[in-house]
Amino acid sequence: MQVSSSVDTGTAFRVEKTSYFYGPVMAVKDVYMDVPDRKITAFIGPSGCGKSTVLRCFNRLNDLIPGAHIEGKITYHGVDIYDPSVDPIELRRRIGMVFQKPNPFPKSIYENIAFGARINGYKGDMDTLVERSLRSAALWDEVKDKLKESGLSLSGGQQQRLCIARAIAIEPEVLLMDEPCSALDPISTLRVEELMQELKQDYTIIIVTHNMQQASRVSDMTAFFNAQATEKGGKMGYLVEYAPTQQIFNNPQQVATQDYVSGRFG
Ligand SMILES: Nc1ncnc2c1ncn2[C@@H]1O[C@H](COP(=O)(O)OP(=O)(O)O)[C@@H](O)[C@H]1O
Ligand SMILES: [Mg+2]
Repeated sequence: MQVSSSVDTGTAFRVEKTSYFYGPVMAVKDVYMDVPDRKITAFIGPSGCGKSTVLRCFNRLNDLIPGAHIEGKITYHGVDIYDPSVDPIELRRRIGMVFQKPNPFPKSIYENIAFGARINGYKGDMDTLVERSLRSAALWDEVKDKLKESGLSLSGGQQQRLCIARAIAIEPEVLLMDEPCSALDPISTLRVEELMQELKQDYTIIIVTHNMQQASRVSDMTAFFNAQATEKGGKMGYLVEYAPTQQIFNNPQQVATQDYVSGRFG
């Protein structure tokens, strides 16, 4: 994928009039947003309003769902990521993902990092990469003496940081995080939030979170999604408001945003 040098590097993703369909059902309608480079953007909103769907559009993970399709346009540094010339596997290498439930491989801590790197053709010194990745994910000190133990032997919070280390090891440019702390205790959550602040020096981060306090603590930009009832009795998600996080929480422009951030529904 070629990156045009004439494009303003302040914007990582530009989403234009993007809708997403599961079969004939439109799950999210007409999203427009510019996601800034090397900042943290949070997606908030009630369950089922399309946050995960939109998140998965950024690395084309939705492509793997049979019968689903996208309409609209998403560019990454000016390149249309749905253009036929873009290889989705290469795209996913550059745009990594961390899921809600920590999902380490049933392999050693060391191999959790080394495996993906090897598959992606990493030729450098593996011990160095493993250490660097675990340090970046603020996990090294806790695991350096037990690298041969299973990744599954770690606590939930450690497993999630291991998954972040694994994602970082293949040197992506973006980290998509879908409710990465919802299975974690408060201390592990805080640890991951601190880690995100460190990582945003180098990575563009988009995080879906159910937790409004988390969005207000960690993010620079916040997108509030909501869902409206459709004539057919279903619901359709849409982006209500997207603005600097301070504004979303302190001075939202939409009544629905105000109601949501003040806890009136959701
Ligand atoms: N794989 C799928 N197949 C069919 N419908 C789906 C699929 N994933 C999500 N949906 C539907 O799309 C809508 C948005 O879901 P989702 O993006 O998961 O919302 P959120 O992450 O905000 O809870 C929901 O109505 C959900 O049922
Ligand atoms: Mg979701």
